[in-house]
Amino acid sequence: MLRKLVVLAAFCLAPMGASADGPGLAAPPELQDSGLLKHILPRFSLKTGIRVTADDAGPMALADSAPGTPVFQGLGTVWHLRIDAGDPAQQRFLEWLTGDIGRRTVDSFQPDGTPVFTAAIKVEAEVAELEYDGDPVAGEKASLVHCGRCHVIGPQNAMNGIGSTPSFAVIKALPEWEYRFQAFYALRPHGAFTVIEDLTPAFDPERPPPIVPVEMTLDDLDDVMAYVATIPVADLGAAIQLQ
Ligand code: HEC
Repeated sequence: MLRKLVVLAAFCLAPMGASADGPGLAAPPELQDSGLLKHILPRFSLKTGIRVTADDAGPMALADSAPGTPVFQGLGTVWHLRIDAGDPAQQRFLEWLTGDIGRRTVDSFQPDGTPVFTAAIKVEAEVAELEYDGDPVAGEKASLVHCGRCHVIGPQNAMNGIGSTPSFAVIKALPEWEYRFQAFYALRPHGAFTVIEDLTPAFDPERPPPIVPVEMTLDDLDDVMAYVATIPVADLGAAIQLQ
């Protein structure tokens, strides 16, 4: 668990310089050769004015396995898009690709008259439910203390969250919710006010956090994960938007 977290942290916090043009997108050769990227990238750019180019250096990547958000299926695998969630251009690309237009664009790629990829993904049910070493009861308390002033974490503070902040139940309904929670400290907006002992650097004394900080340990985060694993997922019907 701990090791996994550190790997995730490295992935999230690595400096990912986007070029002036817009973020690059890395993809394995078989995906490049399929022609799909040449089909979707110009359409995304046309729509948004953000240029995404195929680039082995990333910072975005399409990969044939997690982590990342499952975005489409084809060539015998489910493709996952990995982005730096702190970059609005990359966030926009993820939203577009998982939205109606992006999905239709993927489905409309039919070089020989037959579709090669489909955005209708059947993600295999997780074979084994992930287990958390944390204590869900301690995790409920930690969630209330550290997260509950912004997030509704459950009926415990249903009236106290900030309206524009997604509840834990809503976040749990998003693809890759486990990744999102495990890496929350690296995902917007938490970086500016969160310190996790032995994991994230201390606050720069020159630039103190703008609000009361969240200061916790990896054990606290394990407990939060164990608690989140027990809460029900929000049923939002079809489309779920993080906004
Ligand atoms: C000061 C307010 C605040 C606190 C405290 C806070 N969050 Fe958040 N969190 C937010 C906001 C606002 C968003 C929505 C960001 C967005 O829509 O891009 C968010 C989003 C998230 C997400 C989804 C991120 C993504 O990009 O998918 C997760 C997971 C999350 N928070 C977990 C936590 C956990 C766990 C804690 C406590 C340990 C916590 N947050 C504490 C404000 C807060």
